[in-house]
Amino acid sequence: MFSRKMWMPGLCLLLSVSATVAALTDYDDEDYPQPEQIHLSLGADETQMIVTWVTQAPTNHSVVEYGLSGGSGLKFTRRASGYSTLYQDFGSERRKLYIHRAVLKKLIPGAMYYYHCGDPLDGWSAVYWFRALPNDANFKPSFLIYGDMGNKNGRAIALLQSEVQNGKADIVLHVGDLAYDMADDNGRRGDEFMRQIEPIAAYVPYQVCPGNHEYHYNFSNYDARFSMYNRQRKAINNHYHSFNVGPVHIVSISAEFYFFLHFGFEQIKYQFDWLVQDLTEANEQENREKRPWIFLMAHRPMYCTNLGNGDCDRINSIIRTGMPFTNNFALEPLLKKFGVDIMWTGHQHSYERLWPVFNATVQNNKSEPYSNPDAPIHIVTGSPGCEENLSPFGDDPLNVSAFRSSDVYTFSRLSVVRKTQLLFQQVAVPEGRVLDEIVIVKDTAYPTWQDPDMALDASVVQ
Ligand SMILES: [Fe+2]
Repeated sequence: MFSRKMWMPGLCLLLSVSATVAALTDYDDEDYPQPEQIHLSLGADETQMIVTWVTQAPTNHSVVEYGLSGGSGLKFTRRASGYSTLYQDFGSERRKLYIHRAVLKKLIPGAMYYYHCGDPLDGWSAVYWFRALPNDANFKPSFLIYGDMGNKNGRAIALLQSEVQNGKADIVLHVGDLAYDMADDNGRRGDEFMRQIEPIAAYVPYQVCPGNHEYHYNFSNYDARFSMYNRQRKAINNHYHSFNVGPVHIVSISAEFYFFLHFGFEQIKYQFDWLVQDLTEANEQENREKRPWIFLMAHRPMYCTNLGNGDCDRINSIIRTGMPFTNNFALEPLLKKFGVDIMWTGHQHSYERLWPVFNATVQNNKSEPYSNPDAPIHIVTGSPGCEENLSPFGDDPLNVSAFRSSDVYTFSRLSVVRKTQLLFQQVAVPEGRVLDEIVIVKDTAYPTWQDPDMALDASVVQ
């Protein structure tokens, strides 16, 4: 680390040459303004990418310089100016973080870009690259999916970094519980975790939903750090948003609204109403034919067979059947009404693939249950590693579990083979062995079991 004072002679010269250069902001000697924790997230469509980073001291500019790769060397031909916001942590030190965001626009879908971010006076990041998501019908994206990855014991991080930097993945879905916990040590745990995932998240969009470990200070530390774009609201909303990746529409929601009620009730309804709106749009014929797959990502599962310490071990889980006594805002009916093909969750620190299931009834009475399945598929992928280690399993009263593992650390890899076929693999770390694999086929845009006329207040309670 070097202090501000070391910069001053050169700085004075620079300022005397150009009166148009903005003055630097004063800050303490122990702070520094270089960019860190760089990560990407999707913008409104394939022509946009959001770059988010942190500085420990304020800067006057939030800039991304970028350019197309290829040709005669690296040139930053374009520049995006963003903005910064102050996040003051609620821990005892009331630490300050400066969160910078810039939206890169008019990207060429499918093109590779180099970029760096920072401030011309205060310093730049290293140079990274990304590929703008293709938007043509031939795009066959690959996803890395997991929840519950921590600052300590993050066993999968090395392999995830390798997969991304070797071009094997187009996007990451982290289904909640990051860092364990980002607010710890006055937010320093979050800083450390975001530095750990930078070699992943600076190269591909790192899409998130909140988990229970993000609850501190009403999720404000989590909220400050990420930039998930809600297209309907035309604003960042790290709790509920959706995005498209090739032939897949992905909806990301907060399961935590149903449990942290002391932060308020109304957000459950706001999210539910938005979810219905989003899924309705996704089911318009033109949209569904273009993107026949719909995924839902949330932190807590509707079903699991882990020993009880959560919601999913109860047959009438809140996430599945709604609020206690009233069954308001139940989510499982939405899966059927709107034909959600796969629900991705974590929370349990294990891997579990469920048989196609709806209303607590398994649909596996045919030779290939995942070929044109008869109900939504649920995958619980919460074992990339965290300080809480792995979660044991218990009984399976519904016979819902098709494959489960809690003795190795894992993450999920999902590849679109063709518009009607997905390859799903659960990968064990550190060796990269495929622990479990299935092919998911759906020959129709709308799943055969979808019931668009289903009433939303239908109870699914057994
Ligand atoms: Fe959790």
